[in-house]
Amino acid sequence: PDSPTRGMGGMGGHMNQGNAWPLQASEGSRELTIPEVLERGQNADFDYEVVAKEGTTEFYEGTLTETYGYNGDLLGPTIRLKEGETVRVKVRNELDEPTTFHWHGLEVNGAADGGPHNPVSPGESQIVTLNVDQPAATLWYHPHPHGQTAEQVFKGLSGLLYVDGTEQKELGLPQRYGVDDIPLIFQDRMFDQNRQLNYDVLMNNDGTTGDVSLVNGTLDPELTVTQPQMRFRILNGSNARTYTFRLSNGASFTQIASDGGMLREPVDREELTLAASERAEILVDFSGTEAGEELALTDAEGTALLPFKLAFDKEEKQPDLKQGTAGQPFLTEEEKALPVSKRLELFGMMEMVTINGQKFDPDRIDLRQRKGVTEVWEVYNQPDMMGGMAHPFHIHGTQFKIISRDGKEPGPHEQGLKDSVQVEPGERVKLLVTFPETGIFMYHCHILEHEENGMMGQVEVY
Ligand code: C2O
Ligand code: CU
Ligand code: CU
Repeated sequence: PDSPTRGMGGMGGHMNQGNAWPLQASEGSRELTIPEVLERGQNADFDYEVVAKEGTTEFYEGTLTETYGYNGDLLGPTIRLKEGETVRVKVRNELDEPTTFHWHGLEVNGAADGGPHNPVSPGESQIVTLNVDQPAATLWYHPHPHGQTAEQVFKGLSGLLYVDGTEQKELGLPQRYGVDDIPLIFQDRMFDQNRQLNYDVLMNNDGTTGDVSLVNGTLDPELTVTQPQMRFRILNGSNARTYTFRLSNGASFTQIASDGGMLREPVDREELTLAASERAEILVDFSGTEAGEELALTDAEGTALLPFKLAFDKEEKQPDLKQGTAGQPFLTEEEKALPVSKRLELFGMMEMVTINGQKFDPDRIDLRQRKGVTEVWEVYNQPDMMGGMAHPFHIHGTQFKIISRDGKEPGPHEQGLKDSVQVEPGERVKLLVTFPETGIFMYHCHILEHEENGMMGQVEVY
């Protein structure tokens, strides 16, 4: 992984959609790091401890890069919570700057959500109570201090948070963590001449991107596949980049989950597009491949981001994909008939981004919604003279459903719970939104630099 030009640039200039730099192919020279699972502690006052801290990471052999991590040097352990349980998490800030601990996709109250209103000062800690009351899903956690979110995430603060459902066993899905159930955090990064992470927001006002692809923080990763049926839980943890994933041999795979849990029914796909902050779970059947065959997960350009090394004895064991809800409609007639009650207009690029013509103001409540009452939000991405750009729109404290895109019902891969939705220029997306808990929650573009530039508002749930 040691070419001297690597990470030192490619094309210059400003480009749209967070994909300014083509990614470099993985050389497949290191086994993929699998984040540890966070262990439950023995302390009387809290069940888990998450510490934001500074560290160093050897992305390039012989060079230490300064990074941030949770409980370690880079990224964070996977937190596994069970549907129905209540846990206390001690969060501690060992950075030199304020941070927050946001549980992205978890339907908790405003005090536990870890948005910009819940800062933890350097050296301080807090105990937050997380009440887990939602179905099995692949969620994540990251900082959210106003003005510093993008840089803290870029330096390495992110981790996965799984909700483990009670029905998961019955689903018969691969679920051996790190064996046939693999977390994959995709992030693009830019390194400078000294191989330090180069956070240059002025160069990247539409989102910091890079030409180097990391998976779980590993540069040039390779995954040894030991089982014919693999489940991948994919997070696009980039600041801005949108990924389209494919298998290098063009084979299809099965998407089983979106941001907030299982899809209504599994759907066969040849490509999967995830905007920043979106997740998906897919099943890949390797049983038809031959030993020695070159196979990789690639991006839309066909660049190998995660080469696979096949190392299993063939044995057929198909996962059982029967799921509970396939017989039922995704939306009831009642839900489809609900009128729009909240309208949001996303507009602009670079530092000129707004929602409904305004920038974020922590002292202004933009919307109010009653706890437990379902409303229809219409999110419109107003194009500008240049055409505009796609914005991944995210709401805290809820898992919503997409009712329609420009009047058309969403495809089967979006018939599941979501907390982030990519809205294309000129597109009008209707969302069915219910907040199960009270508090003040953010909604924003998850291109983190747009969020920092004020493309964020607040809904008070009462
Ligand atoms: Cu991923 Cu405001 O959050
Ligand atoms: Cu969030
Ligand atoms: Cu945006």
